[in-house]
Amino acid sequence: MGKILVTGGLGFIGSHTVVELQNEGYEVVIIDNLSNSSIKVLDGIVAITGKQPIFEKFDLRDKHKVQEFFRIYQDITGVVHFAASKAVGESVEKPLLYYENNINTLVYLLQEFGKFEHSNFIFSSSCTVYGQADELPITEDAPVKTAESPYGNTKQIGEEIIRDTCKVHQHFNAISLRYFNPIGAHESVKIGELPIGVPQNLVPFITQTAAGLRSELSVFGNDYPTSDGTCIRDYIHVVDLAKAHVVALERLMSHKNKSNYEVFNIGTGTGSTVLEVIQSFERVSGEKLNYKFADRRAGDVISAYANTKKANTELGWKAKLSLDDAMASAWKWQKSLNF
Ligand code: WQD
Repeated sequence: MGKILVTGGLGFIGSHTVVELQNEGYEVVIIDNLSNSSIKVLDGIVAITGKQPIFEKFDLRDKHKVQEFFRIYQDITGVVHFAASKAVGESVEKPLLYYENNINTLVYLLQEFGKFEHSNFIFSSSCTVYGQADELPITEDAPVKTAESPYGNTKQIGEEIIRDTCKVHQHFNAISLRYFNPIGAHESVKIGELPIGVPQNLVPFITQTAAGLRSELSVFGNDYPTSDGTCIRDYIHVVDLAKAHVVALERLMSHKNKSNYEVFNIGTGTGSTVLEVIQSFERVSGEKLNYKFADRRAGDVISAYANTKKANTELGWKAKLSLDDAMASAWKWQKSLNF
């Protein structure tokens, strides 16, 4: 069966995907430079599955290290590539850091893994490539728009690099998964989201406010043309998202893919407003959240949620967990961190 490399495997989505890969019997090798994660996540993974992944700590920006890795691990049969910088706002301030960290590392991985006889590659992409889609729900053939941020641009460029690689190397098989909004935590409360500093994303800010780490949540705009004036997103439980990676990898490894480069939207297919997320949190936690309405956040799209038909029918994957499940798991995780 060979080994599966998970880059960024100690990160939020990466760690949940390592657990699901191990649950399916795969032997996992993690590369992580710990720039945005903690070595304690490795203990959390082992506590859940009882299996110790191989862990290599180095930075994928070091091309020689990447070359050395693939010289040593010649039995890697699949790569799930998460390692990247992902803060939209930071990418506007530090574009070159994002282009170096998100693009150079992808090129080095493709160069070295592409030398293998069979290469199965899963790329962590994002619905951010669509910008504000003209039609909702969003299908995979919706036009990719000029990115609103260097972060979003690195996802678009990353997809194009992989697509062009697959065009000239028929032995190279890849799938880009365009995530919507991953939230929640593993039911074991052993792994979850560990935002460093002030959370940029909605759900960790909600749970930190309820835990008393933040004084109040600012809702960025309540004058949008939506049911309650707040933005709509497709919030997907991180465990459902992790399982989508295993299904995508198995599609490639069992040669069920229809072409050697495919793209799938990974979401629930349901849009929720910010206020609906807050109501879900209050419902499942019994807490009253302290929030206020504030100005709109630059770069926010009004509404984004997935048309999941292609993932459901072709990939054979469907999200199973609800918004309430995700919010309940996020709150359990937050409480495990603080109390
Ligand atoms: C969701 C909604 C905010 C914080 C981003 C990236 C995407 C992916 C997920 C990496 C929006 C509102 C938020 C707050 C708020 N990242 N909000 N108060 O912006 O949809 O997606 O994170 O892969 O690529 O673009 O997620 O959680 O930041 O915001 O009102 O304190 O919550 O305005 O409407 P977003 P988010």
